[in-house]
Amino acid sequence: MEPQKTTVFVTADIGQAALDRLRTRGYEVEVFPEIEPPTKEFIIGKLRDGTQVLITTIRDRIDDQVFAAGKGSLKLVAQCAVGFDNIDRAAANRYRIPFTNTPDVLTEATAEFAVFMLGALSRKLYQSEKLVESGEWGTWHPYIPFLGDEVTGKTAAVIGAGRIGKAFAKKCIGFDMDILLHNRSSHDQRFLESARREMALRHESGFSRARRSIEYVPFDAALERADYVSIHVPLIMPSQSENSTHHLMDRAAFQKMKPTAYLINTSRGPVVDEQALYEALLAGTIAGAALDVYEKEPLPSDSPLLAPALRDRLRLFHHLGSGTVETRLSPDPDIGMAGRCVQAVIDMIEGEFGANPAKMPFVVNKEAFQ
Ligand code: GLV
Repeated sequence: MEPQKTTVFVTADIGQAALDRLRTRGYEVEVFPEIEPPTKEFIIGKLRDGTQVLITTIRDRIDDQVFAAGKGSLKLVAQCAVGFDNIDRAAANRYRIPFTNTPDVLTEATAEFAVFMLGALSRKLYQSEKLVESGEWGTWHPYIPFLGDEVTGKTAAVIGAGRIGKAFAKKCIGFDMDILLHNRSSHDQRFLESARREMALRHESGFSRARRSIEYVPFDAALERADYVSIHVPLIMPSQSENSTHHLMDRAAFQKMKPTAYLINTSRGPVVDEQALYEALLAGTIAGAALDVYEKEPLPSDSPLLAPALRDRLRLFHHLGSGTVETRLSPDPDIGMAGRCVQAVIDMIEGEFGANPAKMPFVVNKEAFQ
């Protein structure tokens, strides 16, 4: 039976088309009207007023206080993102409030963005554009004012070979790269075999000059051997697990990389120690980096990463990895984050999957309902 007037508070406009799916089903949907996120106190106020569903983004801190304010009335926190490090899972479980995310639909968008970041960094696209734009392009010359590093045939390390990491690796196969996968826990043998078949086929059919390789390697070996190190791990804080990924890329990690190697990060900012990265770039410990995520977002204006001395080797983007029209806004749950987020609300509130959160595909904290 369709519930009437379930109240939904949306902390950022995730797009009218998706939210209209809820409105036409009788939900009362209120969208926070500002571009900046609401304060935590504002969200708590909404929950005290009885809001039953919160639709959140990575900007909202959903902690114990927020869950406590929703006790008795909050039925779901639906996060419009795949990452959920802003949500206190233990607190959600204490209050037995399910929360959902939007996996899969942003896999290709994020993976292709990582590849484009890698290319832009390595081939100096920004510098080239600046040269033309500023009128400083004097003449064509074989190597002046600069050259880039060719990507084809090089070695990419994929740190965190989950959904997005594997999608990134598949795209690297198209560039005839050797691939080093690193995962702390499981190794996907099927993926490895399929990738090897694809690499063999490319070579046999004359698409690639050399037969390329892919293998799982330990973390240190990945750093030591790669020309490009691309990060695809979730952010796990030391307080959450001994397998923390906080500052996984620290001073010692940069020391292990080749001085000609590049770092690409589309995962979460705190996985990289920004001070250590700044020092590594300045000292030439590594050749360059491209970042889409930061320890603090938006990047503070006094961040060392904005130092003019790094401009030629550091490319900075504004957390745009999943930022395509299709991926961010499509109301179709098989295409867009907004669609998938709204579907999670429908599943939960309308009692799909036997009204059992543990069986709902987008519920993250299934353990609280088993
Ligand atoms: C974006 O960063 C996401 O986690 O969806």
